[in-house]
Amino acid sequence: MNFLSLLEAKRDGRALTATQVQDIIAASTAGQVPDYQMAAFLMAVFFRGLSTEETRALTLAMRDSGEVLRFPADPRPLVDKHSTGGVGDKVSLPLVPLLACLGFRVPMISGRGLGITGGTLDKLEAIPGFTTALSTERIIETVQRVGCVLCGQTDRMVPADKRLYALRDVTGTVPSIPLIVASILSKKLAENLNALVLDVKFGHAAFMRTRDQARELAQAMVALGNECGVRTRALLTAMNTPLGRTAGNWLEVKESIECLERNAGCQSVSSENKQSAPDLQELVVLFAAHLLVLSGKANNVETGEAQAIACLASGGPRRKWDEMLAAQGADLDALQRKLAADHAAPAVLELSADRAGFVSHCDARLVGELVRDLGGGRLTKEGVIQPDVGVDHLAKPGEPVSPGLLLGRVHATDRAQADVAVARLRQAFTISEEPPAPTPLVIEVIG
Ligand code: URA
Repeated sequence: MNFLSLLEAKRDGRALTATQVQDIIAASTAGQVPDYQMAAFLMAVFFRGLSTEETRALTLAMRDSGEVLRFPADPRPLVDKHSTGGVGDKVSLPLVPLLACLGFRVPMISGRGLGITGGTLDKLEAIPGFTTALSTERIIETVQRVGCVLCGQTDRMVPADKRLYALRDVTGTVPSIPLIVASILSKKLAENLNALVLDVKFGHAAFMRTRDQARELAQAMVALGNECGVRTRALLTAMNTPLGRTAGNWLEVKESIECLERNAGCQSVSSENKQSAPDLQELVVLFAAHLLVLSGKANNVETGEAQAIACLASGGPRRKWDEMLAAQGADLDALQRKLAADHAAPAVLELSADRAGFVSHCDARLVGELVRDLGGGRLTKEGVIQPDVGVDHLAKPGEPVSPGLLLGRVHATDRAQADVAVARLRQAFTISEEPPAPTPLVIEVIG
């Protein structure tokens, strides 16, 4: 292969054949293309784009650059959900055990957070003893036995994406729709799924700032996912305000457990510390319902939602959560003790409203930045996470407030950091005299 001629072809806007795309990925994964040439190729793709055929070839070549999970034949469909990321987005945590109880197998391979959006693996690692690094054999065994797993990518899965993503990250080529499609779908296709739902977030605190950009990404992923044999649907959801009432790894785990316990007649989180907001459960139920429809287990989304709500109320998903945690090494007694405590971070400070009115906005970007700066997120891939910091008890848009009423609490590693964060949290809230017009959580369903 003459890499330079392929790079020049893309630079000049010419289409590559599937074989040429496969050769590029094979050579890159084998370490035969120097970083400077691969970076130039990525920049050519960024400006010239890729056709549908080229994107398909790239996605499949990336999937096949490593191991694809092979599960034994089983009547339970293999399903997953992927989110493009947001502040307080903890939907995967309650969703995975719910799906296992609804008769699915869920091999959810997740990622870490970077910047203001959290990562599912970082959240899970706030659970004492929980391991997210599992071998391929253990992933398959756990999915078959428990019905679900929540873990990181193994070294043998989609190595092409690791190399390309690391280069994109430092060359300004992340926001390219064909490259994002190939990166996300290659990893999901390596799970060998029957059905997939995508949460494509847009707004102030999302990767995609506008609804049009989000729709373009969603349409491309839905079309390619379906073409590759995975029944795929995407929901466009707004990400201007944090999801739920918490942001920060441990605090989000706690809220997720509360979501599983709501209406299920059990209680690990002390009642004075309860805070789960309806938006989290709404999305969890909705994603489950769409997967039920995609898999032929429900006739329509409304029936699917009713099935998911009844399943949550049975307490089964709460028990399944413990089963999954135990299968991945969690110390359930230590978790129970951590849940029973009001907080795990050394310094906790409240923010109260200073006037009466309604919360008209809580800026997810400002909240995400302050949580990141408290140590809850990372600025570089090597950054070390403080699992217990963040914000909780966030007041939601539309809620009435009066002087002294709690708008949110900051959890920090020391008092000085907590003071700074409380001042920043105040900036995130807008209080108005009239309640804001309600905004729907899901703006559009694609596919
Ligand atoms: N998430 C991914 O996994 N890949 C991208 O390219 C962007 C977001």
